[in-house]
Amino acid sequence: MAIPQSFLDELTARCPIEEVVADYVPLTAKGGNLWGLCPFHSEKTPSFSVSPEKHIFHCFGCGKGGSVVRFVMEAENLTFVEAVRKLAARAGLEMPEEDQASQARRAHRRRLLELNRAAARFYYDTLKTPQGAPMLRYAMEKRRLTAAYIKRFGLGAAPDSWDSLIRAMAAQGYEKGELLEAGLVVAGKNGGVYDKFRNRLMLPVIDAGGDVLGFTSRVMDDSTPKYLNTPETAIFKKRGILYGINFAKMTKRRSLLLVEGNLDVITLHQAGFDNAVATMGTALTQDHVRLMGRYTKELVLCYDNDAAGVDATERAMAVLRDTDFSVRVLQLPRRRTESGELVKQDPDDFIKFQGPAAFERLLAGSEDQTAYKLETVAAAHDVGTDEGRVAYLKAAIPVLAELNSPVEREIYAVRAAQRAEVSKEAVLHEVEEFRRRRSRQSRRREERTALTPLANLQPKARELRYEDPRSAKAEEGVLRLLFLDHTLLRLCGDLRPEDFSSPLLGKLYGLLLNHDPPYSPAAFDDQLTGAEADHLAQLLQAPASLATGQRAMADYIEIILEHRADAGGERSSESELLALQQKLKQKQKTEDTK
Ligand code: UTP
Ligand code: MN
Repeated sequence: MAIPQSFLDELTARCPIEEVVADYVPLTAKGGNLWGLCPFHSEKTPSFSVSPEKHIFHCFGCGKGGSVVRFVMEAENLTFVEAVRKLAARAGLEMPEEDQASQARRAHRRRLLELNRAAARFYYDTLKTPQGAPMLRYAMEKRRLTAAYIKRFGLGAAPDSWDSLIRAMAAQGYEKGELLEAGLVVAGKNGGVYDKFRNRLMLPVIDAGGDVLGFTSRVMDDSTPKYLNTPETAIFKKRGILYGINFAKMTKRRSLLLVEGNLDVITLHQAGFDNAVATMGTALTQDHVRLMGRYTKELVLCYDNDAAGVDATERAMAVLRDTDFSVRVLQLPRRRTESGELVKQDPDDFIKFQGPAAFERLLAGSEDQTAYKLETVAAAHDVGTDEGRVAYLKAAIPVLAELNSPVEREIYAVRAAQRAEVSKEAVLHEVEEFRRRRSRQSRRREERTALTPLANLQPKARELRYEDPRSAKAEEGVLRLLFLDHTLLRLCGDLRPEDFSSPLLGKLYGLLLNHDPPYSPAAFDDQLTGAEADHLAQLLQAPASLATGQRAMADYIEIILEHRADAGGERSSESELLALQQKLKQKQKTEDTK
């Protein structure tokens, strides 16, 4: 839903950012801004600032920032529209009437959801007919699901037929086009359609609000594809779907348990682990993380114990690294078969062979990230040999050095020491050496950064980093001035978004051009990623003066266009580097002579 700018302006005016933020964080005035402890990362001294005048917040520690809407989005894990709705309620403002286009979109979406629900009902009913007998047998005998859980998860049967669903849905008034849009049928030759799901056990995919978004399905033998999902549709978007979230959101357990398979989710719920969810066979995304974040900040990862699972675990941890989730990893042991072979098992297998109590024990002992990393490092080296033990230690030291608590360092050092068959003291000594070396390095880096004001400008998010800092500085200046006084746009006639060296700043400039003034950061919230909004708030924090605005604007534009003409600007960043080295050398000299 597109919310009119006029409404956002009114909302921003009626919800002073300092008042809204103060509902969450105590603020103290200091030098024109208000300061407090950042709600988005843990800190002991305030680096979180609110500017009532500019209507923005910005944390100098973690880099988060933006408008009052952005603040509520972050603080409450809401979408843009949800945050606007919340603020509107606070200010006693009526939400604007939806325009016709979005009303129509909503109605269309509802219709597709109803169709999916009708289809789920059809599959569910079929499960109890003779046509559904093979699927029911598979679910109960092969997968050991009880009647209660088959019902709870709404499992169903797609008959071995090309048009059962089409006929059943047509009888309820659904048309071919709608069935196609919902991904329930496939277009054949001669304009005909046929049922997409045939002779399969059907699992409806239900979102947190209880709507049926689509289906996943399994064959009952070894044919392929083993699992078949609804294709991406207007309502089935895999990157944000967590199978099982409709039940898991109500769990009394503290964490969510993320597993790989959809049927694993059902088996786990049936065994009492009603916090299990799974992605739709895809990697974990920020959308998934945001969805989980509404319910808990604790996650246990339980991916399969094979190369692909280890890889998926690492990628998931990378996605979770910059979030406030606490993450543990549950590793399922391999199982020895009767013939003595070691095979991987998933939660489904584990519960079948070892039972729920054993799984509960594993869950209780599931390891935090450090232990997991140490295990992975150990698995990569042959600690049966001297060389292997040395290599293991070499790789383990940086893992231990990351820990900021001396107690934790000691605990894990003991483990690593046992593995490598050396003394705990020797390990700790290496770790402290490593930390000293690293802090020396980072001090030097900081000094270097302090010497170059340009480096301070860089966006926090790596993917937004400036290639051409000098031009970017001017580009930031242009934006800052335009936010301050939109009439300066009259001086920007020659400047196009493509002239900007930074794609982010060019994008912001493009947004401004397409927008009615005056500009407020809130106007772009729904078009920017979190990191982009963070950086916009950061750059708006820097002072700009209107007194010299015209002159400055002209200078900025000249710099940008020069750099643009300057064949990619490589030369300039090289000469910058030289200048920096000179500066460093000089500083070294003056220090040496002191
Ligand atoms: P796995 O192949 O690891 O299977 O797929 P599983 O869940 O243990 O399956 P069972 O026990 O043999 O029934 C894990 C997940 O990957 C996706 C599905 O979401 C599945 O649950 N997947 C797998 C597909 O989407 N398509 C496939 O062909 C296979
Ligand atoms: Mn399985």
